[in-house]
Amino acid sequence: MKERVLTGDRVTGKLHLGHYAGSLKNRVALQEQYETFVLLADVQALTTHFDHPDVIRGHLREIALDYLAAGIDPNRSTIFIQSMVPEIAELTVFYSMFVTVNALRHNPTVKSESKNSGLDEMYYGFLGYPVSQAADITFCKATIVPVGEDQLPHLELARKIVRRFNELYKPVLVEPKPLVSDMPRLVGTDGHAKMSKSLGNAISLDASPEELAHKIKKAPTDPARIYKNDPGHPDICPIYSYHCAFQPSESAEIRESCEKGAIGCSACKERITSALERLLEPMRERRSYYVEKPKVVDDILMTGTQRARTIAQETMGEVREAMSLNYFD
Ligand code: TRP
Repeated sequence: MKERVLTGDRVTGKLHLGHYAGSLKNRVALQEQYETFVLLADVQALTTHFDHPDVIRGHLREIALDYLAAGIDPNRSTIFIQSMVPEIAELTVFYSMFVTVNALRHNPTVKSESKNSGLDEMYYGFLGYPVSQAADITFCKATIVPVGEDQLPHLELARKIVRRFNELYKPVLVEPKPLVSDMPRLVGTDGHAKMSKSLGNAISLDASPEELAHKIKKAPTDPARIYKNDPGHPDICPIYSYHCAFQPSESAEIRESCEKGAIGCSACKERITSALERLLEPMRERRSYYVEKPKVVDDILMTGTQRARTIAQETMGEVREAMSLNYFD
């Protein structure tokens, strides 16, 4: 049997080049080799959006289109909606009995996210979302979870939950392993350490050619370079980091030319703009195919969710049996 890969995104907004470099590209490659599950984490989005859940609806379609545009192939990957697999919620409740509040309070990602969330207080669902994330991963017995560094505490918790469950009841669950992308976080077009939609420094996957060119043109480069022939410092330049992320084979040459003052910033920007055009153009094509066929997208989501549910029900049966909660078997 093929190993299973599970990843997902909070349904909080459409995806951008940072998502592509950090995880989408990886998922597209992994689906060739593994049975891949991609989760639209709408329940997890509720941890911060419970007071306006209606926006999640729109974001869900956008992200589904982003996935399909980026090359996630619905014939190879199961794309599914978290809230429509109620077994995930059931597992969350069972797991939460043996996870301590202290373990959650000390989770560094929960801590920093709650600081940035703008929420006035710590909510039960927010504090506990890593438990729910363990259920996301374990319902299908995924062994490989491609994630960014910030998710490692959650993976560690998921592994602990699996070990604890298996030792308390029966060895039913499988320990997942994180697969950390070797791509460092993508910097924003403003040079800020993180590309993020809320910071307004992101290039979205559905950016038009004009929008792409404009954002690259406006991006700051090495401020010490006043004249074209001044030697540049690629390590502090967001454009150079894009060369590394999106056309690594040319990055050594770009670095050398920049440091020697042999290539000017605008020529360097033109080169990354065309490289990104080559990446985004096929995505636009796939996107427009699906945009014109909303029924097809609905079908992909419904079929994927149904498939995820069938697997979740199997696991749930084993879990109940292990816990002696299978009263009428
Ligand atoms: N917390 C993840 C993020 O913010 C999203 C997510 C939800 C996830 N469930 C998951 C990632 C399960 C991996 C596996 O990016």
